[in-house]
Amino acid sequence: MDDLYRENIIDHYRHPRNKGHLDHPDIRYHDVNPFCGDEITIELKLDGDRIVEAAFDGKGCAISQASASMLTEEVIGKTLDEVKAMSKDDILEMLGIPIGPVRMKCALLALKVLKAGVWGLEEWPE
Ligand code: FES
Repeated sequence: MDDLYRENIIDHYRHPRNKGHLDHPDIRYHDVNPFCGDEITIELKLDGDRIVEAAFDGKGCAISQASASMLTEEVIGKTLDEVKAMSKDDILEMLGIPIGPVRMKCALLALKVLKAGVWGLEEWPE
Protein backbone atom coordinates (compact mmCIF):
# COMPACT_ATOMS: atom_id res chain seq x y z
CA MET A 1 0.00 0.00 0.00
CA ASP A 2 2.89 2.32 0.82
CA ASP A 3 4.14 1.92 -2.75
CA LEU A 4 0.90 3.31 -4.11
CA TYR A 5 1.19 6.39 -1.91
CA ARG A 6 4.85 6.79 -2.76
CA GLU A 7 3.99 6.72 -6.46
CA ASN A 8 1.28 9.29 -5.88
CA ILE A 9 3.77 11.59 -4.13
CA ILE A 10 6.28 11.23 -6.95
CA ASP A 11 3.55 11.86 -9.50
CA HIS A 12 2.54 15.09 -7.73
CA TYR A 13 6.19 16.11 -7.56
CA ARG A 14 6.85 15.48 -11.24
CA HIS A 15 3.48 16.72 -12.48
CA PRO A 16 2.36 19.26 -9.89
CA ARG A 17 -1.30 20.25 -9.94
CA ASN A 18 -2.28 23.90 -9.75
CA LYS A 19 1.32 25.08 -10.07
CA GLY A 20 1.69 28.71 -11.04
CA HIS A 21 0.00 31.94 -10.09
CA LEU A 22 -3.56 33.25 -10.02
CA ASP A 23 -4.67 36.60 -11.39
CA HIS A 24 -5.45 38.87 -8.46
CA PRO A 25 -5.54 36.26 -5.67
CA ASP A 26 -7.46 37.17 -2.52
CA ILE A 27 -4.83 35.46 -0.38
CA ARG A 28 -1.15 35.08 -1.12
CA TYR A 29 1.47 33.85 1.31
CA HIS A 30 5.05 32.72 0.97
CA ASP A 31 7.36 31.04 3.43
CA VAL A 32 10.59 29.11 3.60
CA ASN A 33 11.75 26.09 5.53
CA PRO A 34 14.68 27.71 7.36
CA PHE A 35 16.50 24.40 7.66
CA CYS A 36 16.92 23.81 3.93
CA GLY A 37 15.76 26.95 2.12
CA ASP A 38 12.92 25.17 0.32
CA GLU A 39 10.02 27.48 -0.33
CA ILE A 40 6.34 27.56 -1.11
CA THR A 41 3.93 30.29 -2.14
CA ILE A 42 0.20 29.60 -1.98
CA GLU A 43 -2.47 31.74 -3.62
CA LEU A 44 -6.22 31.45 -3.16
CA LYS A 45 -9.23 32.98 -4.80
CA LEU A 46 -12.39 33.24 -2.73
CA ASP A 47 -16.10 33.43 -3.33
CA GLY A 48 -17.33 34.74 0.02
CA ASP A 49 -15.47 32.56 2.45
CA ARG A 50 -15.19 29.59 0.12
CA ILE A 51 -12.02 28.79 -1.83
CA VAL A 52 -12.76 28.57 -5.54
CA GLU A 53 -9.23 28.51 -6.94
CA ALA A 54 -5.86 27.59 -5.46
CA ALA A 55 -2.34 27.65 -6.84
CA PHE A 56 1.14 27.15 -5.52
CA ASP A 57 4.66 27.85 -6.59
CA GLY A 58 7.88 26.76 -4.99
CA LYS A 59 10.99 24.72 -5.08
CA GLY A 60 12.23 21.98 -2.86
CA CYS A 61 12.11 18.34 -1.99
CA ALA A 62 9.54 15.88 -3.29
CA ILE A 63 7.58 15.74 -0.02
CA SER A 64 7.24 19.52 0.35
CA GLN A 65 6.26 20.14 -3.27
CA ALA A 66 3.98 17.12 -3.55
CA SER A 67 2.15 18.05 -0.37
CA ALA A 68 1.65 21.59 -1.71
CA SER A 69 0.27 20.17 -4.95
CA MET A 70 -2.08 17.81 -3.09
CA LEU A 71 -3.14 20.52 -0.69
CA THR A 72 -4.22 22.89 -3.46
CA GLU A 73 -6.49 20.14 -4.79
CA GLU A 74 -7.76 19.40 -1.32
CA VAL A 75 -8.74 22.97 -0.37
CA ILE A 76 -10.71 23.94 -3.47
CA GLY A 77 -14.34 24.04 -2.32
CA LYS A 78 -13.49 24.34 1.36
CA THR A 79 -14.42 27.32 3.52
CA LEU A 80 -11.77 29.32 5.35
CA ASP A 81 -13.01 27.87 8.65
CA GLU A 82 -12.56 24.37 7.29
CA VAL A 83 -8.98 25.24 6.31
CA LYS A 84 -8.32 26.65 9.77
CA ALA A 85 -9.48 23.37 11.26
CA MET A 86 -7.08 21.30 9.12
CA SER A 87 -4.37 19.61 11.11
CA LYS A 88 -1.06 17.87 10.75
CA ASP A 89 -2.98 14.59 10.73
CA ASP A 90 -4.92 15.65 7.63
CA ILE A 91 -1.65 16.19 5.78
CA LEU A 92 -0.16 12.92 6.96
CA GLU A 93 -3.33 11.12 5.91
CA MET A 94 -3.18 12.88 2.53
CA LEU A 95 0.44 11.79 2.01
CA GLY A 96 -0.37 8.30 3.22
CA ILE A 97 3.12 7.14 4.13
CA PRO A 98 4.89 7.24 7.48
CA ILE A 99 6.81 10.51 7.83
CA GLY A 100 9.72 10.53 10.24
CA PRO A 101 10.78 13.53 12.33
CA VAL A 102 13.38 14.67 9.77
CA ARG A 103 10.80 14.95 6.98
CA MET A 104 8.00 16.33 9.13
CA LYS A 105 8.87 19.97 8.35
CA CYS A 106 8.85 19.10 4.64
CA ALA A 107 5.41 17.54 4.95
CA LEU A 108 3.95 20.46 6.90
CA LEU A 109 5.47 23.44 5.06
CA ALA A 110 2.52 23.83 2.66
CA LEU A 111 -0.02 23.67 5.49
CA LYS A 112 1.93 26.26 7.45
CA VAL A 113 1.95 28.62 4.45
CA LEU A 114 -1.73 28.01 3.76
CA LYS A 115 -2.77 28.66 7.34
CA ALA A 116 -0.63 31.77 7.69
CA GLY A 117 -2.29 33.13 4.55
CA VAL A 118 -5.79 32.34 5.76
CA TRP A 119 -5.28 33.71 9.27
CA GLY A 120 -3.44 36.75 7.90
CA LEU A 121 -6.44 37.72 5.81
CA GLU A 122 -8.48 38.11 8.96
CA GLU A 123 -5.83 39.93 10.91
CA TRP A 124 -5.24 42.49 8.19
CA PRO A 125 -8.48 42.88 6.25
CA GLU A 126 -8.32 45.21 3.27
FE1 FES B 1 13.48 21.19 2.40
FE2 FES B 1 12.06 19.07 2.47
S1 FES B 1 14.22 19.16 2.42
S2 FES B 1 11.35 21.09 2.72
